Amino acid sequence: MSTLLEVSDLNKSYVTKRNVLGRPTRTLHAVKNVSFSLQRGETVGIVGETGAGKSTVGRLVLRLIEPDSGRVVFDGQDLLELGHKDLRSLRQRAQMIFQDPFSSLDPRMVIRDAVGEPFTVHQGLRGEERDTRVLELLERVGMRADQLDRYPREFSGGQLQRIAIARALTTEPDFIVCDEPVAALDVSIQAQVLNLLVDLQQERGLGYLFISHDLSLVRFLAHHVVVMYMGEVVEAGPTEQLFSDPQHPYTQKLISAIPSPRPSRQRRSAVSPAKEA
Ligand SMILES: Nc1ncnc2c1ncn2[C@@H]1O[C@H](COP(=O)(O)OP(=O)(O)OP(=O)(O)O)[C@@H](O)[C@H]1O
Ligand SMILES: [Mg+2]
Repeated sequence: MSTLLEVSDLNKSYVTKRNVLGRPTRTLHAVKNVSFSLQRGETVGIVGETGAGKSTVGRLVLRLIEPDSGRVVFDGQDLLELGHKDLRSLRQRAQMIFQDPFSSLDPRMVIRDAVGEPFTVHQGLRGEERDTRVLELLERVGMRADQLDRYPREFSGGQLQRIAIARALTTEPDFIVCDEPVAALDVSIQAQVLNLLVDLQQERGLGYLFISHDLSLVRFLAHHVVVMYMGEVVEAGPTEQLFSDPQHPYTQKLISAIPSPRPSRQRRSAVSPAKEA
């Protein structure tokens, strides 16, 4: 396996208050000295409670926001040294899917165009040629040809997430940041979307940074886990090791708080297929 992403000593503060002159008077150190690496084709899970800095890390590694300090090396390239043009090509190789797929799709665009747009922008494809590629991808994620001319509002959350995944795949990425991709979905739908992500990973050798507050999902999906607490990585390691022998008290607390699968059969059925896949 080769390293796809290497993150070292990332720091990010947000200004939370300014004085009348616009000078920062209060800042929040949201990400503190975060380091981890991700191998090609592997899933790294980031867990931690709300406000831990998970999404901030996800945005930093795609350089959607700028860090205060630290390094992000993607496939051997230092991201923070990339010029405009190289950043554009990075944007094709590294994609993001979000918790709320509706907000990531333009409500006025039928899905033929939503998924087709990146084909036009990056590859200059139009017309029938473009449609063929769009349909290929949509069918791969479980959608049908007769749904091409529908608007986002005509789909369920799970369908929208499939469409968002198809759109992310148009540029043939090798890395996707998945920020709570199933948190907004019905438990019964979660497993289908997770299975799709796992299948796509196997087919395409995708690396995932899988951000979730749901430890049971991370346990089934991730090869390595990074535990964040108040902006810091408190523990990281191979998934089974981390779950069977957590070292840090915070990790132990998180794991002991996982609801037992028995009373909630639904949750169990939601995650177990992902393990089998
Ligand atoms: N643009 C911003 N401006 C100011 N503060 C922010 C901004 N974005 C995030 N924060 C703060 O930074 C901290 C980390 O936020 P972040 O969204 O990364 O956490 P998270 O782990 O993803 O949480 P959640 O599980 O709720 O999604 C939080 O305290 C949050 O309020
Ligand atoms: Mg978040």
